[in-house]
Amino acid sequence: MSAARDIDAIAPNDLEAFWIPFTPNRSFKKRPRLVVRAKDMHYYKPDGKAVLDGVAGMWCCNAGHNRAPIVAAIQKQAAELDYAPPFQYAMPQSFTLATRIAALAPGDLDHVFFCNSGSEAVDTALKIALAYQKLKGDGSRTRLIGRERGYHGAGFGGISVGGIVANRKQFGNMLAGIDHLPHTYNRDEQAFSRGEPEWGAHLADDLERIVALHDASTIAAVIVEPMAGSTGVLPTPKGYLPRLRAICDKYGILLIFDEVITGFGRLGHAFAAERYGVIPDMITFAKGVTSGTAPMGGVLVRKGIYDTFMQGPEHVIELFHGYTYSAHPLAVAAGIATLELYREEKLFERAKKLEPLWYDAAMGLKQEPGVLDIRMVGLTCAVDLSSRPDAYGKRAYEAMERAFHDEGLMIRSLGETLVLTPSLVISEAQIGEIFEIMAKVIRAGA
Ligand SMILES: Cc1ncc(COP(=O)(O)O)c(C=O)c1O
Repeated sequence: MSAARDIDAIAPNDLEAFWIPFTPNRSFKKRPRLVVRAKDMHYYKPDGKAVLDGVAGMWCCNAGHNRAPIVAAIQKQAAELDYAPPFQYAMPQSFTLATRIAALAPGDLDHVFFCNSGSEAVDTALKIALAYQKLKGDGSRTRLIGRERGYHGAGFGGISVGGIVANRKQFGNMLAGIDHLPHTYNRDEQAFSRGEPEWGAHLADDLERIVALHDASTIAAVIVEPMAGSTGVLPTPKGYLPRLRAICDKYGILLIFDEVITGFGRLGHAFAAERYGVIPDMITFAKGVTSGTAPMGGVLVRKGIYDTFMQGPEHVIELFHGYTYSAHPLAVAAGIATLELYREEKLFERAKKLEPLWYDAAMGLKQEPGVLDIRMVGLTCAVDLSSRPDAYGKRAYEAMERAFHDEGLMIRSLGETLVLTPSLVISEAQIGEIFEIMAKVIRAGA
């Protein structure tokens, strides 16, 4: 078969039927960005050209692409046990994976509830919070507190506590009884901070205002991301999370960290909770748990919460919640192999070590035209660009297109921000390559 015929076989000739999520469909379908293969730090286009992956797929392929031990584990599992019902039955490896994830988590976060995505993990955590408060006799605690500019997935629970207007305004009513903390970004105070900004810990005190308004007896839980990824890498200010923890403790409010992005090494630790020295009551995770190779999410729960459910007659279900694909065998096998690889290659430590170099390289973009701010924490970076008149977001979108089509780099655009989140296996030379191309595409669109 000729090379040309190979390409014909994989390039679709009708793009209409697939309604692509969170993507401008018409513009994509005019000039599609397709990838057909991946290995380590690269994707490959249908014509065989390599694309350096600056975003770990979508903040998830932390171990790099198509790593042999993970591929082998998934293949072996598929041939051995395709599916095991997760209600009333289980396969042994699910317990192994839960134990290993719990061992990575700080404090007594030692029970794991599995689901299939970050959105499901968030819904699960919110439901556990409500059910827990009820079980311990605090049934009036039904209010959930999120944060402006937070992203907690696309389910109704997630968009309700989430704070992204575009994700909310199309859908009318959401969960009732929700309030939001203010977001933590202030360009005047924080622009071009290396890592967590010095300014802004006091913003956690807004929880006191919310408590004064609604009364603590109505509030079940607060959910925040240790670093708000989807609105353009907003690291929490120094001291903010300990302060939030203290206020939650003062009023008996559960604290949930949404670590769907920050879990599994992104900030140089297994979980960001460790980086900030704060133990939340629950941690939601997804993405990096399988390095993006199979859909999996989950919630880490503190012992006291789990134990509260373990009462009543033993033949009765304690939590009426779960999914057909909770702890799916392929995802479990992928998860075990992924954690093994993280440990063997010390990838979380590697991310930590690369941080100063990454920050230096990111700051190199400061002089490029129309760069308004650069934010970074762990192996993440966001670059805010000035907009063209009446065309908010177009400059970043075009930079992303140009990077992919002309320069062989995959990045993400979010509004007028360019975002980078590479795999933790990235080399120093590849960091240099990413920022050289970034400078080029930023300049080209100025
Ligand atoms: C913090 C956070 N929570 C939840 C989600 C939703 O995850 P998923 O897309 O797997 O449902 C995301 C996705 O990016 C996320 O960043």
